[in-house]
Amino acid sequence: MTKQRFLITSALPYINGIKHLGNLAGSMLPADVQARFRRLQGHEVLFLCATDEHGTPAELAALEAGQNVVDYCTLQYEIQKTAGDGFHLSFDHFGRSSSAENRVLTQHFADQLEKNGFIEERVSQQIYSLDDERFLPDRYVEGTCPKCGHDPARGDQCDNCGSLLDPLELINPRSKVSGSTNLEVRDTAHLFLRQPLMEAQVRAWVDAAEEWPSLARSIAYKWLDEGLQDRAITRDLKWGVPVAYEGVPRTGFEAKVFYVWFDAPIEYIAAAQEWATLHGTDWARWWRKDKGAEDVTYIQFMGKDNVAFHTVSFPSTIIGSGEPWKLVDRLKAFNWVTWYGGKFSTSQKRGIFMDKALELLPGDYWRWYLMANAPESSDAAFTLEGLQAAINSDLANVFGNFINRITKFAISKFDGIVPTGGIAGEIERDLLTNVLDKIALITQYHEEMEFRKAATETRALWVLGNEYLQAKAPWTLYKTDIDQSALGVRIGLNLCALFAILAQVFVPETAGKILDALGVPPQNRNWPNAVDAGLFDALPHGLKISELPVLFQKIEDEQVVEWGEMFGGG
Ligand code: MF3
Ligand code: ZN
Repeated sequence: MTKQRFLITSALPYINGIKHLGNLAGSMLPADVQARFRRLQGHEVLFLCATDEHGTPAELAALEAGQNVVDYCTLQYEIQKTAGDGFHLSFDHFGRSSSAENRVLTQHFADQLEKNGFIEERVSQQIYSLDDERFLPDRYVEGTCPKCGHDPARGDQCDNCGSLLDPLELINPRSKVSGSTNLEVRDTAHLFLRQPLMEAQVRAWVDAAEEWPSLARSIAYKWLDEGLQDRAITRDLKWGVPVAYEGVPRTGFEAKVFYVWFDAPIEYIAAAQEWATLHGTDWARWWRKDKGAEDVTYIQFMGKDNVAFHTVSFPSTIIGSGEPWKLVDRLKAFNWVTWYGGKFSTSQKRGIFMDKALELLPGDYWRWYLMANAPESSDAAFTLEGLQAAINSDLANVFGNFINRITKFAISKFDGIVPTGGIAGEIERDLLTNVLDKIALITQYHEEMEFRKAATETRALWVLGNEYLQAKAPWTLYKTDIDQSALGVRIGLNLCALFAILAQVFVPETAGKILDALGVPPQNRNWPNAVDAGLFDALPHGLKISELPVLFQKIEDEQVVEWGEMFGGG
């Protein structure tokens, strides 16, 4: 296989608060599985993510926490980074959209867009708070929803009826900062991105994007068909990338910043720059088509609510710059993971969040359940009962039991040595055929980013191993035909290695433990070739293996009950 290059990004989690398991399952985790898979195939991978730090949600969360926004973001960044590590997310770099790199790059894009005639300055009306001495954009103002009467509705959206709102529409508006109702409507100037001018180019690009899954394509077309709008890309806020800066004064914009959705996707590029600076290496070969990125395959992962921003808005920024930046090649979008069919909610204590999850179970357990039930074709309900079934049956009974059983037997009867002897017969030939078929299928599903199917077939492969041991019964043969028993054990141990190699993408920590115990050196942990007939003889005869602890602890019924009480279960 020729070595390729993959740039992989996950949608950037908002800084305001630790993410729940649905956020994890809908972008960061599948991106990690894909990154691991491509690395194991021997490709060169750059896997990036970052916290999305600007805008009103961050400012308001900091206000609520009684911290200044810079300190708040730094603390939350550390919390999110630590949680990501706990789930073994193998980012090459986990950056911050508040970085200096992103500031410079965001300003650069705005300048390019302006030069190319895609920016227009326009005056619009916004709510100004006399007591707070500031404008109140988006969520800074609350009031009664004009559509459904719900109170409080946020300035940008009503959480009750889901309507997108303009803060001016709110009935009885009040400041979220001070509660003040001493408000007035004032004129304020903003920069607008003239997206309609780029519509034809964006559409042509979407037309050519044959590799996008249907969910992503249909969302992109829905937006294009409705017609692109001019979009305000600045806000009257303090926390963000300044619009006016040294050399580009932009009079009247001294107190304004770019809108968070303008600078956040640019952080995908800036994160590569942060990474390159840290490691003294080159970022441009990943992002600039004139610097070698032409042959990079760029894959993005995100929830479905993010698709329009990635298929229309961000591409408009890139295309409008007139510069040879890389655009996404493959875009994988996910539906929602629900908490028993409803919403995860911090305030209502519904659902498990990333930090708490790791206090209950190791990262690998969650990874397996979330990927085996990925919300691909529809929303998927997270349930503790489903989690229990997946762990107890798939991981403990099928996978763990296979590994523990055969390694134990090898240690007690063959001194933990990979034994010689025995001649493969019908049953081994059949097994090999079936195993090679499964490897081909699993590989195909990972290539297609069909995570559920990849997990299902991985489990089916484990079942093949169990069936073989059941039929071969090396423990019985041990008394009657020691050579055939040795053959069964040898194949069993080789299957352990194979299963662990393939499982690295889903349960990297456990797979690593198995491979360590089997003495498989790192360079031999690569993704297998589906035509490798030597698969059953990969471990050298005479190799000494070490004992493994029980790999997966079952989840007890009492734990399901207890966690249900803690997190608002079914
Ligand atoms: N923070 C956004 C969300 O969670 C995603 C931002 S993705 C990026 O919905 F494009 F901005 F990077
Ligand atoms: Zn409403």
